Amino acid sequence: MSTVDETLVKHVHDHYAEYTYDMFMMNMSPDLEEMQLFAEWADTLKEKKIYSFEAVRPSAQKTEIDLARDNGEPMHIINLSSYNYLGFSYHPDVIKAAQDAVGKYGLGASSSPVISGTYKIHKELETALEKFFDLPDRGVSLFTSGYSVNLGAISAFIKPGNHVVMDMASHMSIVEGARLSGGEVHYFKHNDMASLEEVLKKTCDGFARVLVCVEGIYSGDGDIGNLKDVVRLAKQYGAFTLVDEAHSAMVAGENGRGVCEEQGVLEDVDLYVMTFSKAFGGVGGAVYAKKEICKYINWYARCRMFSCALDPAVTGGMVKVIELAMTEIGKERRKRLKTNAAFFRSLLKGKVNLGISESWVVIVNFGSESKTLELNDYLQRTGLDTSIIQFPAVPKNDARIRMFITSEHTEAQLKKAAEIILGAAKKFDFLKK
Ligand SMILES: Cc1ncc(COP(=O)(O)O)c(C=O)c1O
Repeated sequence: MSTVDETLVKHVHDHYAEYTYDMFMMNMSPDLEEMQLFAEWADTLKEKKIYSFEAVRPSAQKTEIDLARDNGEPMHIINLSSYNYLGFSYHPDVIKAAQDAVGKYGLGASSSPVISGTYKIHKELETALEKFFDLPDRGVSLFTSGYSVNLGAISAFIKPGNHVVMDMASHMSIVEGARLSGGEVHYFKHNDMASLEEVLKKTCDGFARVLVCVEGIYSGDGDIGNLKDVVRLAKQYGAFTLVDEAHSAMVAGENGRGVCEEQGVLEDVDLYVMTFSKAFGGVGGAVYAKKEICKYINWYARCRMFSCALDPAVTGGMVKVIELAMTEIGKERRKRLKTNAAFFRSLLKGKVNLGISESWVVIVNFGSESKTLELNDYLQRTGLDTSIIQFPAVPKNDARIRMFITSEHTEAQLKKAAEIILGAAKKFDFLKK
């Protein structure tokens, strides 16, 4: 039986549309009030048949798939909600490589990488990544998620008394890595070099270590980091740089080495962060840095030291993905992704607010998060799955439909998806006036 005030429960039930994600975050009472109220809210959405989250997929993250809502309701959708940018997660050679690895090594690594969880396949992945990025003094440190790369690498690199300086639009994993480090945390205005310089002037005193954290492509805005100037300023003030290329590694740049390659700063960046969950089509991640930095992070990133190593199947799959990415297949897919993203953007341009996005992460701003539930329900029902983001991932009243374009989408699928977005914009009143 609920121990929470019944009038509150009733309020959540009757006013479910006014409640947003952030409203269930705070509470200190021993009766777990926020959890009971959250459960009431989620159950009400299910009762109203608008709970569009956690819809179950019966097959791979292809460009068009069936899915089943929480209540079993089936839907057929164009999939712009998964960041499988090059479609490698379901490439037959990748699946075969993962199967071979699981056959050889078994299911799990059964130990921390520092103790006995490092297999030959992990070493093959490290070598493959070193070849892919091709800087002789650099190595990699493998992690089981992109999130833990930022958490572990930042907290190993920065100590209490040091400083982390980050772009205001940074991913939560950077924010949490900075907090965990015990260093002093500073923010600068998004992609604003004058604002960065102001913070560097205050923090770079020649004694404390300063780490500037930015992204190649910003996950919440879809725009491109001004890495060239970030690196220039960091060097000028004696700071180190971390570039999270979650959405750009293997995609941006002539050889897929990211926005760092595109802007000619790969060699100048101290910590290059990649996740295997996006264009690599797997899960896990790595930091690419000078060999001695990687050796240190291997031991002093606590979420790596005190956690099991990457599983062999995924590791085997990643080795194959990198091999493919270095062939014509990779080149063609990277090119197609860029063509597809430009085509899709051209269908929406001038009709809805694309914010500052300029990449394969396409953003449509729709304003208040109070529209999220019904909008997401509508989009899925009309045949399009997207990745809606709202506060606290982005500022309040700046909620967005986020869409990930892949190299494998067809022109017809992208046209249909754009039609659905424009239909939604008319219905939910976010067509550009
Ligand atoms: C910029 C950025 N960094 C890190 C991550 C975390 O990566 P993963 O999902 O592989 O843990 C994400 C995930 O979306 C991201 O967008």
